[in-house]
Amino acid sequence: MKKLFVVLLTVLLAVSMIGCEKKPEVKEVKIGVAIYQFNDNFMTLYRNDIQKYFDDLNAKDASVHYTVEIVDGANDVNTQTEQVRTFISKGVDALIVNLVQTTSDALAKEVVASGIPCVFINREIADFEYGDKTCYVGADARDSGRYQGEIIYNVKDHGDLNGDGTVSYIMIMGDPENTDAQYRTEFSIKKMEELGAKVECLFQQTGNWDQAQGQELVANALSTFGDKIEVVFCNNDGMALGAYQSIVAAGRTVGKDIYLVGVDALPECCQMVKDGTMTGTVLNDDVGQATAACETVLGLLAGKAPEKKVNYVPYVMVTTENVDNYLK
Ligand code: GAL
Repeated sequence: MKKLFVVLLTVLLAVSMIGCEKKPEVKEVKIGVAIYQFNDNFMTLYRNDIQKYFDDLNAKDASVHYTVEIVDGANDVNTQTEQVRTFISKGVDALIVNLVQTTSDALAKEVVASGIPCVFINREIADFEYGDKTCYVGADARDSGRYQGEIIYNVKDHGDLNGDGTVSYIMIMGDPENTDAQYRTEFSIKKMEELGAKVECLFQQTGNWDQAQGQELVANALSTFGDKIEVVFCNNDGMALGAYQSIVAAGRTVGKDIYLVGVDALPECCQMVKDGTMTGTVLNDDVGQATAACETVLGLLAGKAPEKKVNYVPYVMVTTENVDNYLK
């Protein structure tokens, strides 16, 4: 009887111990990502890179699980303000914010005041006080402009197709809420002049980074200025795609009677550079920038102050010579 009792007790003890056996704890980390607008070619690549970065981490290490919520600001300040406030009140562990508006620092200040670690991306606020837990990851748009100027200057006639001694160009600008638009407009032309070109601007208008707007503006410019236009500078590839449609519709041929240059190195534009239907583009390194932003978030979460308050990832000039490295 006593023996049976001991056996029973041992079994009970063993069973209860199995019940108590601790499951390894999984640390939950919530990250809120606010994108200025989903309907943007480059920012679509960028937000997918962010998602992938954390998906890969989740697959590698089961002890931490990152939940990433990415929201679309729809290019509307009020929408984005609500979204960021909701992230803050939900108590996310970290934020990545691509501001709709950079001419006001009101929302950025709210983020800093919340004490939640945050990396701002892609749209920089000039001279912003980032505090200890916030910083910026982007790229120095002056360089992307300079590379555009260099690409055009490097073609056989330096962009002066009709040989009249002046490069006559049109400029299709991005949304001025991103300094990239201003800098690319300014530095592409400065670089041409520095290299020795004489330039003449026939037309300069804002296409808001958008393909359809780029197409319409270039169609208008071509119907007004026709053969006078030698070079089409677009502040991004999205608008260059639109420009290309209008160039074809006007019966012009890139590389033969007109040049076309963009920025971003979207996969479809790299293919066009390869085919000769775009003169060149500039790699805006979405993977490099997303990786830098995510690594900075991890550092901030670990209590490390960011190494740089403003971290610029380099651009790369893309022409027929090196485009093979960027074809996907
Ligand atoms: C630029 C990019 C554009 C657009 C813009 C959005 O860096 O070249 O295509 O995505 O950011 O702010």
